[in-house]
Amino acid sequence: MVGLVKQVVLALPALALAWVAFSARLVDFQVAQPPPLPQDAKQCTVKILERTFGFSFGLSEIVQFTPPTDCGPVGSWAGISLNFTVTSNGTQFDRLGIFTFHNVEFWRTSTPEPTRGDGIIWTYLKDVTKYTSLFAEPGTFILQLDNLIQTGLDGQYATVLHATFFESSARHPPAPHADLIIPVSTLANDTGNDASVPPAFSLNVTVPRNAVQVFAELFASGNGDEEFWYFNAPNQFVGNLPTFGEGPFREVRMLVDGQVAGVAFPYAVIFTGGIVPTAWRPITSYGALDLPTYFIDLTPFVPILTDGKPHNISLDVVSAEDDHAINQNWFVSGNLQVVLDRSNKPTTGKITVLDAPPFAVTKTTGSVGGNDVNFTVTATRRIHIEADIVSGSGRRNHVVWSQNLQFSNTQDFIDNSNVQLLHQTASGTFLSTHNGVSTLVDDFSYPLNINITNLTPDGLSFVTTVDHSYNRESHPAPFILGSTITEHQVAGGFFTISPNGNFGNGTSQNTFTYIDTKGNTFNRQVSSINTNITSDKQSGSLAPKQPPQFPSFGPGKLVSVPKARLPGGRGGN
Ligand SMILES: *[C@@H]1O[C@H](CO)[C@@H](O)[C@H](O)[C@H]1NC(C)=O
Ligand SMILES: *[C@@H]1O[C@H](CO)[C@@H](O)[C@H](O)[C@H]1NC(C)=O
Ligand SMILES: *[C@@H]1O[C@H](CO)[C@@H](O)[C@H](O)[C@H]1NC(C)=O
Ligand SMILES: *[C@@H]1O[C@H](CO)[C@@H](O)[C@H](O)[C@H]1NC(C)=O
Ligand SMILES: *[C@@H]1O[C@H](CO)[C@@H](O)[C@H](O)[C@H]1NC(C)=O
Ligand SMILES: *[C@@H]1O[C@H](CO)[C@@H](O)[C@H](O)[C@H]1NC(C)=O
Ligand SMILES: *[C@@H]1O[C@H](CO)[C@@H](O)[C@H](O)[C@H]1NC(C)=O
Ligand SMILES: *[C@@H]1O[C@H](CO)[C@@H](O)[C@H](O)[C@H]1NC(C)=O
Ligand SMILES: *[C@@H]1O[C@H](CO)[C@@H](O)[C@H](O)[C@H]1NC(C)=O
Repeated sequence: MVGLVKQVVLALPALALAWVAFSARLVDFQVAQPPPLPQDAKQCTVKILERTFGFSFGLSEIVQFTPPTDCGPVGSWAGISLNFTVTSNGTQFDRLGIFTFHNVEFWRTSTPEPTRGDGIIWTYLKDVTKYTSLFAEPGTFILQLDNLIQTGLDGQYATVLHATFFESSARHPPAPHADLIIPVSTLANDTGNDASVPPAFSLNVTVPRNAVQVFAELFASGNGDEEFWYFNAPNQFVGNLPTFGEGPFREVRMLVDGQVAGVAFPYAVIFTGGIVPTAWRPITSYGALDLPTYFIDLTPFVPILTDGKPHNISLDVVSAEDDHAINQNWFVSGNLQVVLDRSNKPTTGKITVLDAPPFAVTKTTGSVGGNDVNFTVTATRRIHIEADIVSGSGRRNHVVWSQNLQFSNTQDFIDNSNVQLLHQTASGTFLSTHNGVSTLVDDFSYPLNINITNLTPDGLSFVTTVDHSYNRESHPAPFILGSTITEHQVAGGFFTISPNGNFGNGTSQNTFTYIDTKGNTFNRQVSSINTNITSDKQSGSLAPKQPPQFPSFGPGKLVSVPKARLPGGRGGN
């Protein structure tokens, strides 16, 4: 319930911008709720790592981390948040960042592209309370941020990561959390723990015999020829189109001993070098600094997983092509958030209904005529699994896990691909009930509309609009805070790729609302024109007490050289 929450409305009129021009460093950010953690609790902030990533390909930052003992008993915290702050200047592509602790990937981020001269700074604050059982034990902490310094690429990323532990009290009780988090990862100890697929990634996982609930979290993002997977064309239409094949449908699957246990239709994260880099500064595309993850309820498989033997858990990404193939590559990983029974006796039970076909039902149609190639790929997916589970202490749980998802992607390559229109939507409902009680809920809708119109026949000068949303009610597990987010972003601009230096401009309008199951709220409406923030209104219980300050930039700032990555590998730099 929301309760009576004092609304703090902050507005930053454009006229006030001049006097806050204290620094010309561009402040980049992704719209997101501040961590919903008790600011009046005692806090212990510790530095986890500080590292400048220059030429860092294959050279992850690896540190030993020990939790603080001065904010109450270790593991009894009311919450944990991370502060990742980065500065950069120069020219550089966006890079992927993978945070791993105890071999569990718990945060996938990416870097805004820097500007030359004074450069950029960004801070992302992330609530990591759901990983409390990891942070309660000392262990190896890895940040993989593979950056390249080479001709034309001199931007380094100077990073610092702090963790803040919030002491619990009568007013702010210890945050509930999984008893155990098991990695479904490469288990590497010298780099981030995500696996590259295809081929499918598989790992033998042994689950404690007294496990009674298991919730799996999936991480997945397209890379290389799969970065713009939603722009790929079905093989039957790809012909000479300026894009890759294997179609635009992607399904991330988790399998247990070869049986599909749950799937996700991923949200399309556009990195800051994507299509029109100037549209993503200073406001990144939604998700670029904190890629969404997907939870599935693996509890129906507990009777199988608790036999004391290793089980083959696989992660892969498949398409709507006949052979389900995709290009190279996606990075995937996962973790199992496990609840144990108080007794040490094994859990028993059986799966009673298993309706989880290997693949979604898909359809591809299209028409080719004149100078156009138009096509539509649709997919629907239903999973229904039931199980009866008996804990060692005798508690019975009837589990029903169902997923119902829809996907549609229409692309029109008009006038010899001089105009490229994309309309995609992925939506669906995940629901699990345990003894009839709603336990895992995910209701989502991710519409994505893109218009790329060439201004020159070589396609090196173009104008783009991206209109996309992230609308999601998510309750990942009974011990993880649930939330409802609605986010709408319309961004676009003009861009020219030139050997003498890329140039362009951009606008961004964002409307974001957040409410969680504790009643915390946050709303933000923020717009930018080129590198200037033109309006910013924040309200809700989580809104900062001080209005954020942004520098103002003269038109000269536009003469920077963001690195563009285009669908189909066109243009580039
Ligand atoms: C985040 O860390 C940066 C760098 O240490 C610091 O300047 C900033 O104040 C921190 N922000 C918050 C909200 O703690
Ligand atoms: C810009 O980056 C260079 C290294 O690439 C560094 O030496 C310089 O201090 C940076 N300048 C600023 C203003 O941060
Ligand atoms: C890292 O992993 C390798 C291979 O699994 C192993 O041989 C090595 O001992 C590990 N190193 C540490 C510090 O755990
Ligand atoms: C899992 O372990 C079994 C033996 O228990 C072995 O045959 C199999 O190759 C292993 N699978 C993986 C993916 O490591
Ligand atoms: C694990 O399951 C995957 C997916 O079904 C399969 O491709 C792989 O061969 C299996 N691995 C082993 C060792 O059984
Ligand atoms: C492709 O779609 C566009 C609308 O976006 C339409 O005007 C055109 O006629 C279509 N071409 C074909 C061959 O279907
Ligand atoms: C695509 O963008 C171009 C350039 O802004 C515009 O002229 C055209 O009307 C847009 N097309 C659609 C279907 O919105
Ligand atoms: C971006 O540049 C284009 C082409 O010069 C121009 O038409 C447009 O008005 C500019 N937009 C902004 C927001 O500056
Ligand atoms: C930013 O705003 C200032 C003040 O309104 C204006 O002078 C400047 O031209 C703007 N810069 C850009 C890049 O649009």
